[in-house]
Amino acid sequence: MEGYDYAKCIEISKRARWDIDKDVIRGREFDFSKKFLPDGLSKADQLGFLNKNDQRFLSQIQGRTYANMFGFVERFIVAKMLEITRNHWLRDQVALEALVRFCDEELKHQELFRRIEPMLGVGMSEGYRFLHQADAVAAAVLKKCTWAVLALILEIELFTQEHYRQSIEKDEKLDPLYKDIFLFHMKEETTHALMDELEWPLEDKKLTPTERDRAIDELIELAAAVDGILQAQSKADVEFFSKASDSSFGKEDMERMKGSVLKAYRWQYIFSGTEHPRFRKALGDLITEAQGERINNALGMLR
Ligand SMILES: [Fe+2]
Ligand SMILES: [Fe+2]
Repeated sequence: MEGYDYAKCIEISKRARWDIDKDVIRGREFDFSKKFLPDGLSKADQLGFLNKNDQRFLSQIQGRTYANMFGFVERFIVAKMLEITRNHWLRDQVALEALVRFCDEELKHQELFRRIEPMLGVGMSEGYRFLHQADAVAAAVLKKCTWAVLALILEIELFTQEHYRQSIEKDEKLDPLYKDIFLFHMKEETTHALMDELEWPLEDKKLTPTERDRAIDELIELAAAVDGILQAQSKADVEFFSKASDSSFGKEDMERMKGSVLKAYRWQYIFSGTEHPRFRKALGDLITEAQGERINNALGMLR
């Protein structure tokens, strides 16, 4: 974004800095009589045949997955950003400090999401599973070129903020602890997206047109891989929901729920980022119109 540099990122990061126990958790527990993820993200309200209890429970399962997803993607985000610090080791020490703070914050976020996982499980019966292993997925993501990984990271860090501002903040009925976690998380994510916007064009300058074209293929491959994760997790979450709920669901209802949760996850983790104006602008500045169309067509296949 215009007007932001690494010094400004350090200033914002210092102001936003929080502590997991002192500021966020404050000795609290989750209240399972309340929703965790708002309808704007979970789309649980679109399943008209679910009663209020089931809608709330589905929002809590999705909320647990939502927290796990962040702890999970932050594994490759830290690894890639640490690698990027190398570009600044011997030159711009302000950039180096800003990026080190970025990595330190993401390590703290991973700790926060690890801490709350069992707390989110307290009000649910056994059987919830988060299917993917952070290190294995991070290793696969990091095989792609830096240009493609930075695109994915920017997309994630923009939607993190967008979700809070557009959906979580406005919903008065959510569990206050759950809401606070994503308020504090969003505060420290602000500078991350700004730094991604600074680093991505620097990486882009290193590429030849052929390398950039290949990087776009790799970004499309990453989007497809994310979608594979979402397909598997949405199915697992709906199956857990149907087993743990007091209601019973027929085959048709199960299919509708799986379709709806997959659609919600695709919105949460892919489209709310790729359609973000700042992502469109940052990407548009680096690629040709034909390349943009190639990306749009590939994303269109996931609808
Ligand atoms: Fe984070
Ligand atoms: Fe971040």
